[in-house]
Amino acid sequence: MADKEKRKKIAIPDLYALREKGEKISWLTAYDYPTALIMDQAGIEMILVGDSAAMTMHGHPNTMPITMDEMISHAKAVRRAVKYAFVIGDMPFLAYHRSVEDAIWNAGRFMKEAGMDAIKLEGGERVAPIVRGIVNAGIPVIGHIGLTPQSSAMLGGFRVQGKSADSALTQIRDAKALVDAGVFAILLECIPTPVSAKIRESVDVLIFSIGAGPVCDGQLLIVHDMLGLFQAFQPKFVRQYCNLSEIMSKAFGDFIKDVKAGTFPAKEHEYSIPEEEVKKLEAILAERKA
Ligand code: KIV
Repeated sequence: MADKEKRKKIAIPDLYALREKGEKISWLTAYDYPTALIMDQAGIEMILVGDSAAMTMHGHPNTMPITMDEMISHAKAVRRAVKYAFVIGDMPFLAYHRSVEDAIWNAGRFMKEAGMDAIKLEGGERVAPIVRGIVNAGIPVIGHIGLTPQSSAMLGGFRVQGKSADSALTQIRDAKALVDAGVFAILLECIPTPVSAKIRESVDVLIFSIGAGPVCDGQLLIVHDMLGLFQAFQPKFVRQYCNLSEIMSKAFGDFIKDVKAGTFPAKEHEYSIPEEEVKKLEAILAERKA
C-alpha cells in the first residue's frame, strides 16, 4: 500500500486486485496487540495469527500443544489492533481433525468471537471434505501444503517437500483438491521454487510462500524470525530485518545497572508535592508522636 492516506480495510477482492496489478502481497504473523498495531500502521496487507504462537509466545518445542482457546485469545488481541490488514486465524492441531462439524464450530469461533477475516488450516487432499464444510458455512479458507508443521512427525521432521517428481506431483494434487473444496488461497511452505511455479500454473487461486520462492503472489514470514526474537533456530528462508533480541538484552542490562547504581529513577521520573504540604505533613506527624 504505497499511499497510506487512501487505505481501507482489505478484503479478498483487494488481494486478487493486487495480483492483477502484479503487486506482491506482504504477510506476517502476529499474536499480540502492540506488534499487530505497529505492523498494521506500517502497511502490511495480511496478518496470520499463527499456531506458531505455541513456539514463539508460549515456549513449546513445536506447534502441537496450543489450544483453540489460547488461539482465540491471541486472535482477539490482534483484531483489536488492526484497522486495515486482512487477518487470518490459524486452526490449531485437533481443532479440525475429529469431524467436519467440529471443524466448522472452531472455524466459526475465529469469525464470531475474534472477528477474523478467514481461517487457515494445514493439509491437502485429506482435509478437502473439512475445507468444503467450512467454506459451505460461509467461512473463507486458506489451505497450507508443503511442510505442514502439525504433521512434521509423519513427514519425518521439518523437511523441504516436493524435492522429487513424485513428491512434487503430490503437492500439485493437494493444491487442486483444496481448490476444488473451495479455498481462496494456498500457502506453500518449504517447497522448491520450480515446484511452486508448477503449482501456481495448475490452480487459479492466490499462492503464498513461506520458503517457497519469489514466484508466488505474496510472502509470509514469522514475525519473531524477521525481528530476530526467536533464538532456538533459524530456517534458511528467513531474512532477519533487525536483531530485537540484542536490543532488548542491552535495554534490560542497562536498566539493571541503573537500578543498582541508583541512577534510575532520575529527577524527571519523580512526582512532587508543594514544600508547604511537606512541612504540614511533618508537623502533623511530629504532633502525633508527642
Ligand atoms: O503458524 C504459523 O505461523 C504458520 C506458518 C509456519 C506458516 O502456520
